[in-house]
This record gives sequence, C-alpha cells and structure tokens, in this order.
Amino acid sequence: MEAKRKIIVTSALPYANGDIHLGHLVEYLQTDFWVRFQKLRGHDCVYVCADDTHGTPVMIRARKEGVAPEELIARTHAIHLKDFTDFQIAFDNYYTTNSPENKAFSEQIYAAMEKSGGITKKTSPQLYCERCRMFLPDRYVKGTCPKCGAANQYGDSCDSCGATYGAEELGAPTCTTCGGTPVVRDSEHLYFELEPQHDYLAKWITEHTTSDVSNKLLEWFAEPLRGWCISRDAPYFGFEIPGHPGKFFYVWVDAPIGYLASLKNWCGKNGQTFEDWWQDPAAERYHFIGKDIIRFHCLFWPGMLHTAGFQQPDKIFVHGFLTVNGEKMSKSKGTFVNARTYLDHLPPEALRYYYAAKLGGTTDDMDLNLADFVQRVNSDLVGKITNIASRGGQMLHKRLGGRLGTLDAEGAALVAKCRDAAETIAKFYEERRFNQVVVEVSRLADAANEYFDRREPWKTVKTDEETTRTTLTAALNAFRLIAIYLKPILPVYADKAMKLFGETEWTWATLGTVRENCALGPYEYLASRIDAAQVEAMVAAATVKPAETGEVAHESRASKNRGAAAASQPFADDSGLLRAAEPRPKEVASLRPTIAFPDFEKLDLRIGVVQSCEIVPKSSKLLKFVLDAGSLGTRTIFSGIRAAYPEPEKLVGREVVFVANLAPRKMSVGVSEGMILFAGEPGTCGGLLSPDAAAGGGTVVS
Ligand code: 2FM
Ligand code: ZN
Repeated sequence: MEAKRKIIVTSALPYANGDIHLGHLVEYLQTDFWVRFQKLRGHDCVYVCADDTHGTPVMIRARKEGVAPEELIARTHAIHLKDFTDFQIAFDNYYTTNSPENKAFSEQIYAAMEKSGGITKKTSPQLYCERCRMFLPDRYVKGTCPKCGAANQYGDSCDSCGATYGAEELGAPTCTTCGGTPVVRDSEHLYFELEPQHDYLAKWITEHTTSDVSNKLLEWFAEPLRGWCISRDAPYFGFEIPGHPGKFFYVWVDAPIGYLASLKNWCGKNGQTFEDWWQDPAAERYHFIGKDIIRFHCLFWPGMLHTAGFQQPDKIFVHGFLTVNGEKMSKSKGTFVNARTYLDHLPPEALRYYYAAKLGGTTDDMDLNLADFVQRVNSDLVGKITNIASRGGQMLHKRLGGRLGTLDAEGAALVAKCRDAAETIAKFYEERRFNQVVVEVSRLADAANEYFDRREPWKTVKTDEETTRTTLTAALNAFRLIAIYLKPILPVYADKAMKLFGETEWTWATLGTVRENCALGPYEYLASRIDAAQVEAMVAAATVKPAETGEVAHESRASKNRGAAAASQPFADDSGLLRAAEPRPKEVASLRPTIAFPDFEKLDLRIGVVQSCEIVPKSSKLLKFVLDAGSLGTRTIFSGIRAAYPEPEKLVGREVVFVANLAPRKMSVGVSEGMILFAGEPGTCGGLLSPDAAAGGGTVVS
C-alpha cells in the first residue's frame, strides 16, 4: 500500500443562474468516483466545490424576478446541493463564491498582481444601454452583422457568415433585455498581462496537462500573450476592485479563487488550516474541468497563482462534452435533461454505473445512448453483478438458515481471482479509466456466475446442504469483493451490500478478508431493472416545444465560436473586453474541431520561394520569412516554427505553401502577411509543406 496522501480535489463551480443537467453530471460524477476511490484507499482527500454566483446573468435574472441577487443565489444553492446529494455526490464542502473568504483571497491575489506590475489599463468603446443603465455583454445585444448584413446577430460573431467583431460594430444594435437602442461609450478597464509569464506558463502547461490539451494551448504561445481583461463596470454582481470604484472583478477572476475559498471554509469547519492544505508542498491539488474552460484553468489561473505566490494545481483533468443518442443535447428532442427530471424517473445508480462504464479519462466526448443505457444497466449491473448476490443470498436464507460456511479449494481460487485484480483496478481508478474498472469488475462477475452455474446449487441443495453452503459462500464472497470495487461508483449500493455481510466499514484493505462461518444479513434489494418506458417518460418531461427553446440560434452560435477559437489566442475575445464569453465560453467543441467545406474554400493557397529566413531576436519561437510570391510580389511572414529549423538560412530557395488571403496581422515584431503551412509539432516531428516539383512559384493551388 502506498503512503498516505493529502489530496485536494475540485469540480468546476456551476453557475448559480441555471439548473444542473446530465451534461454537468459527467464532471461531478467522475470527480466523485475518483474522490471516493482515494478515500477508500485511506488517503486524506477533500472534495470542494461551490456555486459560481457572480456576473451579469445572475444580476439580470434577479432583477427580472424582483429579488436581490443574494436571495436568488441562496435559493439556487439549496437546489443544486439537493440535486448533487440525490445523485450521491459527496462534497466535503459545497460553498459559494459570494463569501468573505473569496473576497479576501480575490483582493489578496489582485494586490499581488498589481504589485508585480502585471496590471495595465486600456480604454475601449462598448455598448451601453441607458435604460438598463449598464454596459452590455455580447449576449445581451443583437444587431446587424457588420460584414454580411445578416439581421439579429449577437454582439461577438455572426451565425450567417461566421465573422467575429466587436459589439459596437453591429448595425442597429438592440438591448436584448429591454429592447432599447444602446449607445457607444468609452470605458477604461484593467488587464492582467500574461506575457511576462510566457515561458513560465508554457512550461507549466506542458507539465500539468495532457499532451492534447497542452498542444492546443501552446499554439497560442507562438506570439506574445495578450492581456486578459479582468474588470467589469458597475452595475455588476460581484466584488468591487479595491482602489477602482465602480469596477468589479470579472466573474472568471473570482470563480477559480472560489476553490481556495471553499477549501479555507472547510478548514475552518474542521479544525484545519489553509496553510496545511493548499499551501503544503506535499499536498496534491487536482481540478476536474470540461474542455470548454481550459484557458481559464491552464493559463489565467496558474498565472494568477504564480504571481501571488500560491501553490499551483498538480494536474488539470480535462473531460469532453456529453452527447445524447450521438447528438448535442437538445431541448426540443427532450435530451437536454435536468438532474431533477432524471431523478423523477430513474434511479441515480443507473446513471452512475453507465457514466462509469463510458468514462475513460480522456477529452473525448461521451455519448449517453438511451437504449444502450437501459440495456447495460439491466444486463450488467442487475443481470450479471447483482444477480450473484440475489441468487446466492436468497437461497442461503431460504434453504440454509442464512449462515455462510467455509471456502473449499475451488471457492478459494475464485475469491483469489477477484482479489488479484485489486492493483489493476486501483490503477484504472487512479488514471480515471472508470470504463476499465467496469470491464474488470464485469469479468470477475462473469467468473462468479460461471462458478455458480457450474456448481448447480439449485440441484445440490436437494441432496447436499453443506456442499451447497460452500458454493454459496464462495459466490457471495466473490460478490463482496466486486461490491467493494464498485463502492466509489455505487456507494449506496455498496453500503447495502456491506450490511448484507454484517459489516460496518469497508476500505481497500477489506479486500484481503473473507466472510466465513457467520450469519448473512437480511437480503435487501440492491438494484432493480429499469424500463425503457421510464426513459421515455423522462424524455417527454424534458421536451420543450421548439418555439420555446431558442436553441437553434444558440447552438449554431456556439459552434461558430468554437471554430473561431482554433485560430486565435485564447483571450482574443477578452481583449475586446465584453467579447469575453459570459457565462461560459462555448468555444471548444472538440480539441480537434472540424471546419465546413466553405471555410476551407476561403483559403487562397499559393506557392512562394523563400528569399530570406532569419531568427527573430527576443523570440524563442519565431522565424521571419520573406517569400517571393510571384505575381503577388514579396510577402513577409512570421512563423513559430524555429524549433524545427535551427539553421533557418538553409531554407533560402525552398518552395513553400502559404495562405495568401489571411488578413495581415500586427505582431510585436512586425506585420505578418500570411501563414506558411507546416504539419506536425515543431521540434519533434513535422515540417514545412512543399509543392510538387512540377509546380512553380506563385501558382494557385486551390
Ligand atoms: O463554466 C462554468 O460553468 C463556470 N461556472 C465554471 C467555473 S469553474 C471555476 F473556475 F470556478
Ligand atoms: Zn436595455
């Protein structure tokens, strides 16, 4: 057994302006599995979370309901906590970001950011609604796309042509809250500059995220990191920034700080200190997050913690999105299901088991196929696993006085087989490969069922009670170990199983023991079959008429934003201030997003001959190319591929393919007039794309 570890675990804080749904549960359930596993292994593990309470949506909803935001968030807190509890998710502390601890930490961290010289100011034009008396975030304004003229577009991007822009560029803008016409007003804002931490963050990301996440993030490091706008104008529900009256911390500043605040609050309630937990270098800290909020957790958050001298998280565990029946969750199809709607129709164990069976610890999206869900729960959890206990337990009670006997050699071999899987299963849990845990457990259940069937206790019980007792003792002991393995996934189920064996505590060490020559507790129902009709009733209850969902516009908008994110810096949106996505930026559908053919068609790919290529002083990544682009003249292009070409002068004379119609981009080192095509990872594998020898400079290839 490994030494006792001190582990802090978080799930992303859900917004206080909405319900928990099955998509959220992908995260909270897997975090709960992992935390419960660590506790079962005997480690000191604390799972903290909170409601994310600040920002414009909560403020506006409270206004609409005519209540104070504090009242709204208190109500939501109770609802969220009940949903989580009913799903058997056991936080050690479920707090709120609107707390004194969070205010104090936010001020402390901000003071350190200011002191480090990392805070700058910039004035920019934004839309202001005089009736609502507030600056309008992008999703609170609609108007005509400045590029294509399509009507009814949000303030950041156009669903029709895909253009991205500033809200103040919209034609005929309208405030979506009051229908009024906003005006353009200048406002000064505070920015947290990340470029001073460029190299630190690049290294940190490489070391603390998986390669698919870091590869994506590191694309943004080819050029200087831009500042992140961290202030919002009053009125705003949040914390006012000390020394800046009328300016509030952007919700994404105090949201992750909420992890620290919830932990500190837990420490206070449990006779512990923050210093001994978060700040203990020997402690481990893990954030479970979805892939749409990577930039906040892997760039801004480590940047803030580093500046303020706090310990960093050890790893960021990133998961994918939920699809239902292979598609995005949809209100009109009844597949956008709230936690409560699910619980009204189905048992929590079924979803816990199914999610575990599907989660492999990667950033891939996870599909809840409703027919498969019913089938797997019934055939595996009920028909295969629970069946061992129900057949064995009921026969032992009915025919053999409810007393376990001893294991014979064959029974001992079955139990040993179950026990021998312990370290493999522990490794799968540790690596968050819950699907493999389920495969392994299922394999053991197959062995137990095969043993049971081969020994035919329903026949032997007529002639030989003691042999039958021996058979049932082995089958039930095998089930007992399986139930211990499943305890992190099915805690209530496992507790009932534990009582069946007359025990009061199960830990990982319990796997080394057997139950022999003792009474079996009364057989209590552990899990029952679910019915497709229950699922149909849930879907019917979740179905919203298309006219009421508003989801068509919303969904396509989300996918456009995602596409845009692949090409720009993670905080390009934020540098335009209110282009910061709020509440949650919906930009990353997949870490390898696809583009539509019309997007590809827009590329004007040309061939150029390298006239000169040199290292850019003060940059570790950039090379400066001058290309002879035939009829287009010469082009200067900066490219972050220095790691692949340590002797860039050798590229002179080489033909390369480049995107000729990319808008010129102003970088700190000069203006870049295109993009040279390179495939692979600079420094490891890959290289510049070259045309076929038959082609000539300046030839159009697309
Ligand atoms: O995306 C969201 O739902 C945010 N409320 C998550 C915040 S996580 C952390 F930073 F607090
Ligand atoms: Zn308004």
